[in-house]
Amino acid sequence: MSRRIQVIRGMNDLLPEAMAGWQRLEATVQTILNAYGYREIRTPLLEKTELFARSIGRATDIVGKEMYTFDDRSGDSITLRPEATAGIVRAGIEHGLLHNQVQRLWHRGPMFRYERPQKGRYRQFHQIDVEAFGMPGPDIDAELVLLTARLWRALGIGGLTLEINAIGTPDTRVTYRKELVRYLESHRGQLDEDSIQRLSKNPLRVLDSKVAEMQPIIAAAPSILDYLDDASRTHFEGLQAYLADAEIAYVINDKLVRGLDYYTHIVFEWTTDQLGAQGSVCGGGRYDGLVEELGGKPMPGTGFAIGMERLVDLLNQQDLVGPEPSPEVYVAILGAAAERQGMKLSERLRNQGLSVQCNCGGGNLKSQLRRADKSGARFALLFGEQEREDRVVSVKNLRTQGTEQQRIAYDEIGDYLKRNLL
Ligand code: HAM
Repeated sequence: MSRRIQVIRGMNDLLPEAMAGWQRLEATVQTILNAYGYREIRTPLLEKTELFARSIGRATDIVGKEMYTFDDRSGDSITLRPEATAGIVRAGIEHGLLHNQVQRLWHRGPMFRYERPQKGRYRQFHQIDVEAFGMPGPDIDAELVLLTARLWRALGIGGLTLEINAIGTPDTRVTYRKELVRYLESHRGQLDEDSIQRLSKNPLRVLDSKVAEMQPIIAAAPSILDYLDDASRTHFEGLQAYLADAEIAYVINDKLVRGLDYYTHIVFEWTTDQLGAQGSVCGGGRYDGLVEELGGKPMPGTGFAIGMERLVDLLNQQDLVGPEPSPEVYVAILGAAAERQGMKLSERLRNQGLSVQCNCGGGNLKSQLRRADKSGARFALLFGEQEREDRVVSVKNLRTQGTEQQRIAYDEIGDYLKRNLL
């Protein structure tokens, strides 16, 4: 048996060379969310299992089949969060954030779902999650969509499609569900195994089937838009008016139902055809009953989450990721006597605003210059016994060929580098 232990299936090590895309995404998201007045909130990875059962819904795939649930050492059932909304609502109620006020919140971090792993679908994945509370109208739903559109523009991402739908309220859905079940029952012979199961447990989820043979049946199914009450219809039209004002193109997909049960009125997704089967990069909608369902005073809520792995894939695919950040200067230290002074020199240059990697761990000139090259720095400083005595530093430009070096006075090296780094 191999002694090597490997990463758990469906979970990824994000290696340093992959981080430039992640950092670009995170920095851009943070700037935009701050500018719109959203405040960051962080909640635990683990929550009581009941929280997800009550919010996402017991009949959903997430709660029924995909959660990492186990008993802790006191015998309480706990679950690694499969999404962020439920935990944020729990925290909001617990800390009095969701009463008689409006809140704009955001969160980022890993989520866990025991799904069948494939490209773009993992068992540990990351979301940026944005939630807004206390605002019942379509204005805030529109703001959320505008914010995502601004994010795609800021990142330079193209080729995304916005799909929107209205799914009514739990009451209006009762009638629609009945009609849908009647229709699907009349086609029972053509339904695949999975759809037959969904039909009895959660019939709306049949509309989300990706099985090719199911598509004509789904396309001809009754439309939920024909069963909306006035409030939902007005809300949906309101959202569309805001999107038209902002000149944001959208497609109405009356079969868009989403995989979580808490949604009311409107739902939306941003999709791409550039990532194969896992084309949804961002999904969300309104959930007006959730705060009350989780024990708070009634309060409307709406939000979305972005799948970070998928967005980073898109950034890479569309060549929108720059090089890894690297230091400007590498300080090579030659000989034990120069070591302490070399560290001091590095700190002094950092005080002057330069980014500096200082050689640690010894090594001869050749190996230190190899490390300098690998670091991506533009200049290597060579600092040895002779330099220390002469109060100079030897400078080598790593972007030009040849072995040419210049000796610069120790006290002037910072200014020299700054001038030459421009
Ligand atoms: P969701 O549609 O389940 O919604 O997930 C949102 C996004 O997370 C998806 O569009 C996708 O990009 C990403 N995602 C989901 N599962 C995986 C996976 N296994 N591997 C990689 N990426 C994945 C929610 O989670 C809701 N909480 C969103 C929301 C917030 N609604 C209202 N507020």
